[in-house]
Amino acid sequence: MRIAVAGGTGMVGHYVVQAAQARGHDVIVLSRAHGVDLRTGQGLESALDGATVIIDVTNPSTTQGEAASAFFTEVPSRLQAVGAAHGVQHLISLSIVGIDRAPAHGYYAAKLRQEQVTLAGPVPATVMRATQFHEFAVQMLRRTRQDSVAHVPSRRVQPVAARTVARWLVELASEAAIGRAPDLAGPAQADLVDLARAFVRRYGLQITVTAAPADPTIPPGANLPTAGARIDGPTFEQWLESDDAARLAAYSS
Ligand SMILES: NC(=O)c1ccc[n+]([C@@H]2O[C@H](COP(=O)([O-])OP(=O)(O)OC[C@H]3O[C@@H](n4cnc5c(N)ncnc54)[C@H](OP(=O)(O)O)[C@@H]3O)[C@@H](O)[C@H]2O)c1
Repeated sequence: MRIAVAGGTGMVGHYVVQAAQARGHDVIVLSRAHGVDLRTGQGLESALDGATVIIDVTNPSTTQGEAASAFFTEVPSRLQAVGAAHGVQHLISLSIVGIDRAPAHGYYAAKLRQEQVTLAGPVPATVMRATQFHEFAVQMLRRTRQDSVAHVPSRRVQPVAARTVARWLVELASEAAIGRAPDLAGPAQADLVDLARAFVRRYGLQITVTAAPADPTIPPGANLPTAGARIDGPTFEQWLESDDAARLAAYSS
């Protein structure tokens, strides 16, 4: 099967590409680095030739609400329209657990909009929500770092490895569209600040992690999985010992 991975160069996207190739699929990457701009449509028509499934793991360069909303409206509507015209039979999109429990959060409101546009058709679609990646703690270290201090906001999470998320997205590609797939979470809860500190400690990074106030637009526990969620490893501690974590650390000093 030919699978187009929108955002296939990103944090989770590169694992989606690996997982799809490991399952024997023919993979096309839709991203600007591969000559496809999903906001303008440049390069998309020819890239989609022969693709029957699109997995959308794109993300805008800013998480600011209005810009993110424009991105998460334009990109799925273009994937729907051009995908339908090219015979795509299934559009799969990655979302985030709890976005409907934080209505004042601009980026989450944008993700809700992405879900709605994705599911509006005409291409049959599946949305899978996942909790924060194990890698999110490292993304937060980078985003909040000033010199050698990172101000990571406190938040209760139940993180899952990006590689695990990718495997489940590729699994969905072999099935018919189902609308909402079961949510996906990792095995254990923790505070984001403690995860960031554990990463810094494990890899001996010269970064001090301070606990910043929690984001007031995310109610406590909003990102945690509810009954019926699929739980899959590795744990954060197991992931810390993996080559995936070590590779991230090499870019984090
Ligand atoms: N981080 C988390 O903990 C988490 C948890 C659950 C769900 N998610 C969701 O997972 C998705 C991916 O997140 P991520 O952190 O892996 O993203 P990321 O590393 O920021 O990657 C974003 C991807 O989008 C592509 N992209 C951006 N603008 C584009 C454009 N105009 N045209 C084509 N491609 C474009 C980028 O490629 P180019 O730069 O080459 O264009 C890149 O491949 C997001 O939708 C996010 O909401 C994230």
